[in-house]
Amino acid sequence: MKPYRDPNMARTIHLKALLVTLLFSNVIVGQTPLPIPDTLSGSVIDLTLQEATWEFHPGEVVNTYGYNGSLLGPTLILNQGQAVTLNVTNALPDLTTTHWHGLHVSPANDGGPHSLIYPNTTWSPSFTVLDRASTFWYHPHGHGLTDYQVSMGAAGVIIVRDAQEAALDLPRAYGVDDIPLVLQTKAVVAGQIALHTGLDSVVVVNGVRNAWKELPAQVVRLRCLNGSSERAMRLGFSNSMPFHVIGTDGGLLSAPVTLTRLQLMPGERVELLLDLTAMQGQAMQLMAYNSELPDNIIGAAEVGNGMATLDGYNDNALNGADFQLVSFTVSASLTNGTFQLPTTLVPVNVIPEMDADVTRTFLLEPQLMSPMEMIEGPFTINGALMDMDSINVVVPLGSTEVWSFTNNTMVGHPIHIHDIQFNILDRNGAAPEPWEAGWKDVVFVPAQGSARVITRFEDFADPDMPYMYHCHLLMHEDEGMMGQFLVVDPTTIGEALNPVRPLVWPNPSNTGHLIVSLPNGDGPADLRLYDALGRIAYAGRTSLTAGKARVDLPTLSAGVYQLRITDQHGIPYAAHIILQH
Ligand code: C2O
Ligand code: CU
Ligand code: CU
Repeated sequence: MKPYRDPNMARTIHLKALLVTLLFSNVIVGQTPLPIPDTLSGSVIDLTLQEATWEFHPGEVVNTYGYNGSLLGPTLILNQGQAVTLNVTNALPDLTTTHWHGLHVSPANDGGPHSLIYPNTTWSPSFTVLDRASTFWYHPHGHGLTDYQVSMGAAGVIIVRDAQEAALDLPRAYGVDDIPLVLQTKAVVAGQIALHTGLDSVVVVNGVRNAWKELPAQVVRLRCLNGSSERAMRLGFSNSMPFHVIGTDGGLLSAPVTLTRLQLMPGERVELLLDLTAMQGQAMQLMAYNSELPDNIIGAAEVGNGMATLDGYNDNALNGADFQLVSFTVSASLTNGTFQLPTTLVPVNVIPEMDADVTRTFLLEPQLMSPMEMIEGPFTINGALMDMDSINVVVPLGSTEVWSFTNNTMVGHPIHIHDIQFNILDRNGAAPEPWEAGWKDVVFVPAQGSARVITRFEDFADPDMPYMYHCHLLMHEDEGMMGQFLVVDPTTIGEALNPVRPLVWPNPSNTGHLIVSLPNGDGPADLRLYDALGRIAYAGRTSLTAGKARVDLPTLSAGVYQLRITDQHGIPYAAHIILQH
């Protein structure tokens, strides 16, 4: 079926639902069959992001955006190892980009804010799918445009399959026992979609309110994406039944983790199995038990610890409340399916902390230290707001790194890193939840807390095109809670880095000078700065006193440079530095 294409079709489905409602006494009138997005697969996939309309409430026509349809987009099914070209046509009257959230692709194929698609043009990234089997997603990522365009409906699910996953007895009949669930809350104000933290009171799953789905009495897989702009969801079932987490953002776990509650932040995905084998004829709801969310998470009863609260926050009935996402009824089992829960899944080779070459620290802070800005932002990362023209971090290709996030704000942030999947080392100093022990690309960093992740930067280096890291609360992201990192191949910029690095500060520098410190004491030293293309941008001689020297630089364009210093003994030192204006 094509739920997003044809409003008449939607009406037919609605009529069918009413008929089904009459047959199943436990279905409440007013529920809407859960739309299952079409799938697209193969080596060429065409997506058109377009304007459309949609009715969240019957009779209220709202302007929307959708990929190939009125709202959301088709589910892309990709196989590990395949080559794919995606032709993304922008039929909006506005700039956009399309980002493949979680996929390990080169910066030029990633669809970040630099890959703008102008109206009536087509962007055609082409890549080999390298990812593990999991649930990913795609959405616009223009700087300052993301919240609006995602809220308008632009987002879709990506399913990656691989041989390891295929060898397991797991449900994978799409739309039958393997169900994509895009969980969102939206603000519909005066008949149109609006951006407002306080007013997102419309709960939609796959684009419809009061979604209802029939599931067979067997093992069923739910691929949940929190696609909301800001709202956390503490998932659970109305009948208290346990669910079994089999996968997170970037891959399957080593074994299922059985839970009755799970906190899913915006941007995160989780794959759940339900054992419905003995439940034919029963009904239950997937709920957001947000009355149980700890404070200072958007969606909880309280944000700001009474010192301040977000505009409209207390008026939104969903905040701190339990609400229904989807209602399920269990019908007869099918002949083909899965009838037993797996006990093991795939090996997960967590990166050991001792493999790390470097630890980088990221401080999340409000731009201004007022009670209001502590919860509302704008928020900075290491003192900086997103600047399209500055690079915040330079990672040598092949580096294994710990990224340590410290949250000095009064609200929790789900931090997302492009390019890679990571393992969570700890949160507030303690081991992460058991279900978070696999591959992740979003980590929840609690208010006044911290989290550390470890990852390897492999395969893709580009001296010019950065990847992003950012908060996945879309208002925070748009307001600048985002940074850019380059992955660079050190061998393309002259000789390999000397194992001894000079200390250089400030780095990044916007002061027009650098202070360098070498271990070898006093005397003259020669300095050179090479730009990203390996050209000499500055050459000079300085004199070290107690191992230190101040170097005043001419005006150079902002960017990443390699600094090379040769001391009086001819010993070379090298470091990457970032110059800003
Ligand atoms: Cu889901 Cu940088 O994005
Ligand atoms: Cu992403
Ligand atoms: Cu945030």
